Amino acid sequence: MKCRGTVRVELSRDVTRDDLEALEKALKEVGLALAKGFRSPEEGGRVVSWEHAGRVLSLNIETGRLRIDEASMRVKNSLEASLGARRIGVRGIRLEDALVEVEGEVRVDTKLPYVESIEKSQGRTLIRLKSLEERDLKRPVLLKLLRLLDEKEARARWGGKAEHWQLLKRSRIKFDPPLFTGDPNKVLEEAGLVKRFSIGQWLYTPLATYLLNAMRELFLSEVVLPLGFREAIFPKMYPLEIGLKTGHLRGTINSMVFCSLPKTYEISEFEELTDYMYVTDEAPPEELARYLRHPEYFLCYAQCEPFYWFFGGELLDDSSLPVKWFDRSGPSFRWESGGLYGLERVIEFHRVEVVWLGKPEQVVETRNELLRAYERFMDEILDLEWRAAWVTPWYYEQSGAAERVEEFDIDKPGTIDFELWVPYRGPREEQKAWLEVGNISIHGTKFTSPFRIRHNRGETLWTGCSGFGAQRWLVAFLAQRGFDPDNWPPALRDFLSRNPPPEPVSAVTYPKTQAGREELRRLVELLKKV
Ligand code: SER
Ligand code: ZN
Repeated sequence: MKCRGTVRVELSRDVTRDDLEALEKALKEVGLALAKGFRSPEEGGRVVSWEHAGRVLSLNIETGRLRIDEASMRVKNSLEASLGARRIGVRGIRLEDALVEVEGEVRVDTKLPYVESIEKSQGRTLIRLKSLEERDLKRPVLLKLLRLLDEKEARARWGGKAEHWQLLKRSRIKFDPPLFTGDPNKVLEEAGLVKRFSIGQWLYTPLATYLLNAMRELFLSEVVLPLGFREAIFPKMYPLEIGLKTGHLRGTINSMVFCSLPKTYEISEFEELTDYMYVTDEAPPEELARYLRHPEYFLCYAQCEPFYWFFGGELLDDSSLPVKWFDRSGPSFRWESGGLYGLERVIEFHRVEVVWLGKPEQVVETRNELLRAYERFMDEILDLEWRAAWVTPWYYEQSGAAERVEEFDIDKPGTIDFELWVPYRGPREEQKAWLEVGNISIHGTKFTSPFRIRHNRGETLWTGCSGFGAQRWLVAFLAQRGFDPDNWPPALRDFLSRNPPPEPVSAVTYPKTQAGREELRRLVELLKKV
């Protein structure tokens, strides 16, 4: 990297003829300050020329490995120290006409903050910066900008490649031929167990909720609770600041749901709008927007974010580690645009989010315990066809980071996905016939670092989390085992027999079709016989 630019220094008074000697000396000091810590002024930085007019001193500087923002601050500090004796103070500095030259032609064509223009030629990129005020020089904006260019370049290089997916383990074949080949999404809708509320949102009637809860309760009693995780209730509406720290605002802004508070609590201030709605029976969103604040929140996305926030800034000692919590208190939201389907891919979904914090070996151990419990849950409790894969970590994907997936090492940070076969989508040999139902990750310091979660003796702290998407488990379970409880595993049948099903609702238009009604009748009869 090479940089050049003009540091404009505003002094507390005009420079007079009498000051010139002192000024020249001060500039020699600046030269020394710019080269300090480097082998030569070319490697660090140097003053190429300077001039003064009234109380403004302008220095043209060139730097090598010393970033030009840091060089500018060195100029200021050095001048302050040398000119103080002549009672000349430094009021402020500004960096103008800065040009940063980096190796390689960086592939970027968007508008970047603080950047005037970018030119690429002969294997180099020239970045012309807008003026940087002193407060920008003190913050690491230039460092961040250069890092951003690196990341964009890495993404341009790797981004087009398929996501990482490496099979770790798979169950034996259990259903040959399949027990059921129907699409459970369709059956559930037709039989009136669920009703589409809005795009990507469903209402789950008591009977559907009963089945979802059965999945969830079994998971909690067989996997989560025996391992010592304790239930917490996490908020589901997050201030933007949380998304800045986790990286979600950079990585997944296109699929987050944002929300706004009203501008005022004073109902009379809404009168024009409320009168309009009274008369027209319409609620025009663009009108409503005028009464709302800008979006200051987003709805629960990864579901574990509040956990990192809670421990943010804390010092933890051995006696409180590892921390093992879970939350199942509400929905997560993801706007999947065109990808929505049935209960499998929705905007609003329900998940048990398991999250833990500890020293690396504790986090790995907890993950291993969970992994074994998940395997038993899939193999013995639900007795399904499953597979597990080492995949691009969700926390890389969701933070827009361009890191590459490291070689598989089970003791290092990474994500394992669990997938269940859904026969209605095709034979098990086909990739598209598998549904991701959950994952389990070790994040390393991905969250402990930005949230400043620390150990009292300075040891490294890691986190891990695991998401169990209730709807998807239910769909995949029904896809493999169908709707007849005779074909369901004993653990589930036991659970259901201890918790009798609720009566279904039946109304004029629900279920919609005769076939649906028949389906519902049969299903209730079957469930009653468990
Ligand atoms: N928080 C993780 C995710 O979003 C696990 O649920 O995938
Ligand atoms: Zn999580």
